[in-house]
Amino acid sequence: MPENKSVSELTKQEAAQELERLAALLKTANTAYHQDDAPEISDAEYDRQKRRNLEIETLFPALKRKDSPTDQVGAPLGETFSKIRHSVRMLSLGNAFDDQDVVDFDTSIRKFLGLEGDAPLAYTAEPKIDGLSLALRFENGRLVHAVTRGDGQVGENVTKNAMTIPDIPHTISGAPSVLEVRGEVYMATEDFTKLNAQQTASGSKVFANPRNAAAGSLRQLDASVTASRPLRFFAYAWGEISEPISDTQTGVLEKFKEFGFSVNSRTNTCQNVDQILAHYRAISDDRSELGYDIDGVVYKVDRLDYQEKLGFRSTTPRWAIAHKFPAEKAWTRLEAIDIQVGRTGALSPVARLAPITVGGVVVSNATLHNEDYIAGRDSKGNLIRDGRDIRVGDWVEIYRAGDVIPKISDVDVSKREDGAQPFKFPSRCPVCNSIALREDGDSVARCTGGFVCDAQAVERLKHFVGRSAFDIDGLGDKQIEQFFERGWIKKPGDIFRFAAQHAQDLSKLDGYGDKSIDNLFTGIEERRTIPLNRFLFGLGIRHLGETSSALLARFFSSWDRIKEVLGAAQDENSAEYAELLSIDGVGEVMARALIDTFNDSQQRAVIDDLADQLTIEDIAQVDHGDSDVAGKIVVFTGTLEQMTRAEAKAGAEARGAKVSGSVSKKTDYVIAGPGAGSKAKKAEELGVTIVSEAEWLDLIGR
Ligand code: IVH
Repeated sequence: MPENKSVSELTKQEAAQELERLAALLKTANTAYHQDDAPEISDAEYDRQKRRNLEIETLFPALKRKDSPTDQVGAPLGETFSKIRHSVRMLSLGNAFDDQDVVDFDTSIRKFLGLEGDAPLAYTAEPKIDGLSLALRFENGRLVHAVTRGDGQVGENVTKNAMTIPDIPHTISGAPSVLEVRGEVYMATEDFTKLNAQQTASGSKVFANPRNAAAGSLRQLDASVTASRPLRFFAYAWGEISEPISDTQTGVLEKFKEFGFSVNSRTNTCQNVDQILAHYRAISDDRSELGYDIDGVVYKVDRLDYQEKLGFRSTTPRWAIAHKFPAEKAWTRLEAIDIQVGRTGALSPVARLAPITVGGVVVSNATLHNEDYIAGRDSKGNLIRDGRDIRVGDWVEIYRAGDVIPKISDVDVSKREDGAQPFKFPSRCPVCNSIALREDGDSVARCTGGFVCDAQAVERLKHFVGRSAFDIDGLGDKQIEQFFERGWIKKPGDIFRFAAQHAQDLSKLDGYGDKSIDNLFTGIEERRTIPLNRFLFGLGIRHLGETSSALLARFFSSWDRIKEVLGAAQDENSAEYAELLSIDGVGEVMARALIDTFNDSQQRAVIDDLADQLTIEDIAQVDHGDSDVAGKIVVFTGTLEQMTRAEAKAGAEARGAKVSGSVSKKTDYVIAGPGAGSKAKKAEELGVTIVSEAEWLDLIGR
């Protein structure tokens, strides 16, 4: 796997593959972060991958892609706001990750400017605010528009919203006729915590971090919502300007203050790299007390004539760099590992920790991802942490990297207590005690309890009443939640006893008058008779989608027959098991899921209880008229020349034939096109009739 190799080990072909993978990964990450305000990977991980991409491009310049992430800033724009083109592009910053990178930055600037090593060269060092950048255009002292960065060229017009932010003046005096002030919209940590508490109380979206909260709050269609959110703004840069207001960065920031903007008070003018790094450490030490999130310190060449000479690379200025903080880390003791069951049945291990402060936040839980992660492997079996496993009682290293869920990065085995045992991942669901299964290729074990499992039941019920399943009028997600909470509907069968058992209760519930109760009960009654395919799909069995439910229903026709087959198919040597697998579109994984569900006594009780309430309609065989192939089992193999596979299948089924994926003694016809291999051979051995595509079309009268 090239993604596990260091850049220097990559062959040219692997490098190309890696660049392709990274372009896709970073594109998705960009959209999630900028457009959806819902990051999928941590900032540190994003930076790591972007750096890897750049390293590969440096080693293999010829392989650099047209859509290289290196040349992109931000993300494509959403549809909601009008667009405004920036008169001066809004750029991003290059990154430094350690002191050496900063020294190199200074050296390259000196070289570019032709300055000796000891010639004076001042920088500003300002906290890198973790918010979103905004450009404010003032014409003759009046704010005319506020635009987000967008893709760097074109941003979103959020003027109305920006005008609700107290730190943003609507008029300024003493400024040049055109002045575009740029800076960062952010939310203070305390305000963020309060906002999330309110969001939770009102059942609204909870934000992952202050940055997302700021972005989500600014990009509201209704400016009064933005006004209700505690947003703030720091000014630190500029775009178009009709005449200079100073000849240094420091001087411009002073002017900004005079105009009435907030400028970050931890901005220093430094005379050399040593002072820069000292300021970096001072800010880093105070990070948790600043009251807002920062993710590094930005250094800018102070003299503006130098800035101009240095100019820009494709997306970043040469005169500035962001010195990023490493992910925040701390060591603590792992007190227990709990298993949580998600709404899809996934079993997730959670670390319970001796509380510890990481970056100003008290952490007492962290994710352990899955069984492999605890054991010291990734999902592909490669070692992580050099294969060190994590045991209860161990000292573990916690880190937070821009996101809310802390993670465990390392374990100190030298501090492990004698007798500490490797963690045994449970084989049963801690909520309902059903078997937890981990399928090949799946990184998590899942509870197989379905409706039986309280952790999953609500989601299952929502699926059950959903559009493609029972589609019950008046019974949607909200009602399911309400009725589940009250204990009125715990499993699907309860829905069909609802009218008999809870009509009284329901009439006492807010919003339920006679008419709506009547409508709901009618809706339920209308579904007491249900076609077999919808019934099967409603069960929400893993891997059994809408299409495969229809497939099974058509193949077996009746509920009784399905029960019979799935019961007997427990034995993998049975004819029923073979029959199940012979259905084109049913593989071993789906077969296993079906068989396990039907033969688990708890789940079977839930299914039978439901079925007892219903009339399950057989899927009537289509009227095939005088079709010669009705009821025949056929297999297509090789290349078909006059129709696609899907057309062939549909054509056969419309005439009452059953299309199977494998050849057995029961097969009636094998339709073999050019290139037919083992299936045709097997047909020959078994004496099954083999026909060409043309003969088949003849046979079905086409
Ligand atoms: S200067 C041409 N200064 O960081 C460079 N950016 O990673 C203009 N940021 O898009 C940016 N604090 O959103 C600058 N003191 C600061 C900053 C800062 C935060 C953000 C800004 C920018 C991003 C680049």
